Amino acid sequence: MLTVSEAIRQRRSIRSFRGDPVPDDMVNEILEAARLAPSASNRQPWRFMVVTDGEEKARLRKICLDQAFIEQAPVVFVCCADLTAYSESSRKKRAQEFIDYGVTETLSGRFADPAYRASLLAEPDPDLGIFLTAAVANTYIAIEHMVLTATALGLGSCWVGALGNPGEIEALFGLPETTLVVAVLPVGYPTVIPPPRPRISLSEILLRLPATLSK
Ligand SMILES: Cc1cc2nc3c(=O)[nH]c(=O)nc-3n(C[C@H](O)[C@H](O)[C@H](O)COP(=O)(O)O)c2cc1C
Repeated sequence: MLTVSEAIRQRRSIRSFRGDPVPDDMVNEILEAARLAPSASNRQPWRFMVVTDGEEKARLRKICLDQAFIEQAPVVFVCCADLTAYSESSRKKRAQEFIDYGVTETLSGRFADPAYRASLLAEPDPDLGIFLTAAVANTYIAIEHMVLTATALGLGSCWVGALGNPGEIEALFGLPETTLVVAVLPVGYPTVIPPPRPRISLSEILLRLPATLSK
């Protein structure tokens, strides 16, 4: 298995897969990498479907702008965000875990103030729609864990964010309206590993140069 640094450097978006199946233990390892991802207040909004059925993959391909590699991949993860992870009951459960696991003692600033934490906990059950951005952002973290783990296992993958019309994949799988598909991730053995794709330079991404790098 590759190191994290090796996986980051060797990862490519793979859009052509061999026919070989992905072993179950690798599928499990990829899901475990998602499960262990960090999330704000440990809400863990990510949910997944593992799709290997040819007909379902063909339907996904059609919905996702007819991208052929989705159907070709031996396994496709449909990556979802569950807004109920932000419900009042989930909020209380996660807050209790923070106490049980000693996390509250490690918090800092206003989060270390029991009164402030109690006020957050006492807020009424919110409209879950306001958590859409948080749910997607946190699920994306878990998906990138999956991508890097697939690479480390010698597999290829490609993020698919082109999900067709809103609600189409959710309807295909009969998902509840609080569960939103945020990306599709086809995974398999690559037919070829392409060279690295271009990236903008360090100076372009640094809004301010630290003094040590400015010389
Ligand atoms: C959120 C997200 C959505 C993406 N959606 C698609 C997609 O629908 N189809 C596709 O072929 N590539 C998709 N990509 C892959 C990007 O095109 C690719 O990451 C980028 O061109 C850089 O190439 P690399 O991943 O090989 O380094 C997506 C990537 C991300 C992060």
